[in-house]
Amino acid sequence: MVRETTLRPSDFIYPLFVVEGRDVRRPISSMPGVFNLSVEHAVAAAREAHALGIPSVILFGIPDHKDALGTQAYARDGVVQKALTAIKDAVPELQLMADICLCEYTDHGHCGVVDGGHIVNDATLPLLAEMAVSCARAGADIIAPSDMMDGRVRALRRALDETGHADTPILSYAAKYASGFYGPFREAAQSAPQFGDRRGYQMDPANVREALKEVALDLEEGADMVMVKPALSYLDVITKVKERVDVPVAAYNVSGEYAMLHAAAERGWIDLDRVVMEVLTSIKRAGADLILTYHAPHAAKLLG
Ligand code: PBG
Repeated sequence: MVRETTLRPSDFIYPLFVVEGRDVRRPISSMPGVFNLSVEHAVAAAREAHALGIPSVILFGIPDHKDALGTQAYARDGVVQKALTAIKDAVPELQLMADICLCEYTDHGHCGVVDGGHIVNDATLPLLAEMAVSCARAGADIIAPSDMMDGRVRALRRALDETGHADTPILSYAAKYASGFYGPFREAAQSAPQFGDRRGYQMDPANVREALKEVALDLEEGADMVMVKPALSYLDVITKVKERVDVPVAAYNVSGEYAMLHAAAERGWIDLDRVVMEVLTSIKRAGADLILTYHAPHAAKLLG
């Protein structure tokens, strides 16, 4: 009766990793219960999520062929485009999000174009815009740029507007930190940078005022929703962003945060069901309106 925070399956966005081929359902060793899925298995996972009351999935594509410019990210028959179309067709009620970034598609594993060992911000923007348009065409309802290049929200908004996708909203990964908690994701997406790190474009974990600045810039450029990522070490950032803005605030409960709970639970050190609910409740209590989480189906079953 006096509980202040209530979790619901409708708070969740479920991430899916889509690979090429048929009948692939490859476990990701550092993320128990999460798989690399070929398109038909991704459709099945999306159906299950929808049946559990989860309103949205976010898709990450992992192509067989990676190159310097990440061309599979904006190929008409790219793996993420195929998955978007198939899921939209099978479960039209689901809100389909497309993660927009080059790192899963580039051979060097960086989120932008590389020249002489440097990530080139402005040369990356047209490629991201092309990916956004191609995903919207394939069936994405929401475009979610995670690359952290400056000016990408404006570039994406303009490109979407010019191609008949003026109604497609942008959820920007606005405050995305250079975090060690992305480790398991990089196994799942085979996207670890082949040289250097992402500190040139992702944020310093020590900064919170800078997060508010990043959020303000993305809103000014046309973002409809903003995200804080990771979630758990950044609950204060979620709260501050929530106090500052009047758009929906999302938080990404990332791969390392997921892996830690499973690793400890496998050893019998913690009660998985209990800590999953505790962690997700804390993210909502901090101020998140939406939570991207690999726990989504598990938590929805616990709530159901
Ligand atoms: C970049 C991207 C990453 C994640 C989501 N989008 C990885 C990175 O920045 O290295 C991480 C998500 C997670 O760890 O669960 N495309």
